[in-house]
Amino acid sequence: MATQAALYEDLAADLHLSWSEAELPERERTKHVHRLHPYLGKFVPQLVEALLERYVRPGGRVLDPFAGSGTTLVQCLESGYDAVGVDVAAFNCLLMRVKTTEYELDRLETDLRRALAHGGRSRARATAYVREWFAPDAAAELLHFRSIVDDYEHADVLRVVLARAARSARLTTHFDLDFPREPQREPYWCHKHRRTCTPVREAGKFLSRYLLDTLARLEAFQEVRRPGCTARVVHSDSTSVDLEGRFDAIVTSPPYPGLIDYHEQHRYAYEILGLDDRRERELGAAAAGTSRRVIERYVDGVSTVLARSSAQLPDGAPVLVVVNDRRDLYPDILRRSGLRLADRLERHVNRRTGRRAGEYFESVLVCVRET
Ligand SMILES: C[S@@+](CC[C@H](N)C(=O)[O-])C[C@H]1O[C@@H](n2cnc3c(N)ncnc32)[C@H](O)[C@@H]1O
Repeated sequence: MATQAALYEDLAADLHLSWSEAELPERERTKHVHRLHPYLGKFVPQLVEALLERYVRPGGRVLDPFAGSGTTLVQCLESGYDAVGVDVAAFNCLLMRVKTTEYELDRLETDLRRALAHGGRSRARATAYVREWFAPDAAAELLHFRSIVDDYEHADVLRVVLARAARSARLTTHFDLDFPREPQREPYWCHKHRRTCTPVREAGKFLSRYLLDTLARLEAFQEVRRPGCTARVVHSDSTSVDLEGRFDAIVTSPPYPGLIDYHEQHRYAYEILGLDDRRERELGAAAAGTSRRVIERYVDGVSTVLARSSAQLPDGAPVLVVVNDRRDLYPDILRRSGLRLADRLERHVNRRTGRRAGEYFESVLVCVRET
């Protein structure tokens, strides 16, 4: 495989929007709240930053109808824009709310430190899912934490900490954290660490570590967010949601058929927090497969979302869609949405931290509504 240096030399992409590991190291891509919780399928904040700077009038109001973990919203707050994010997945909305809320830092710190001191174990009987995916001690610690969450002012922050700890404490191998198929109960040969690893037995250490890490990340973001800018999170299906007001731009990365199940990747959070599961409304869910009928439903759904969202823009305002369209679906989607492609930028996506670059490109479709 090509090294990053070789790859970047021949890159026909828009270099301005492509960054090697050396130019944009992982700690920058995952700075402050961007790493509050793992999320598969997000774009990097620096891409949003560059797109806002290039295409959106300063101080404008931005809509992301597939807002995911909230990268667009967080970057808007940092770059001085207002933002609205819609997502059909309840956990993603929880994560976005926690990232974008403005906190009184003293109160937040007092609250989180009080929760830190309140470790314990629940004797309540766990659900079948929890019994299957967690060792008994880990389950008892997680369920205890869940039982105290509602007593705190910053309950949503604690819910995100709980979900993150649950993710780490599952009976999984280290190399299959995203979509583990079955619980791993015995020691196993770990391809990631190149040694024998043992499945996790407890959750308390993760709860403590993530409480402190979350506090530090929320504090760091309060330092850099622009005062007065606001973000609103809407838990809804974007094919039918009614949003109020006008927007100056759309910045979004839609789901893509057959790639990721956005509810399923956070299954532990839905199970432990009891969140509203609307997976049947998810466009392009991998579980639905990629039959012609499924693809047609996807094209129809994304077209509806882009048409409805762009109807709330003034003439000539940018609709920026980030996608790796390997099935060549977007010419038809744009036509059906009443959008015209004004420019198409190709960018290299740096998905690896090592020397191997990984040949993965995606496009930024710069569109405007047909008049
Ligand atoms: C590619 S991800 C967006 C990631 C985002 N750019 C980020 O950086 O976190 C696509 C998102 O679309 C959401 N989604 C899928 N179908 C939807 C629908 N019908 N309405 C609203 N959101 C939907 C998924 O839940 C997922 O979070």
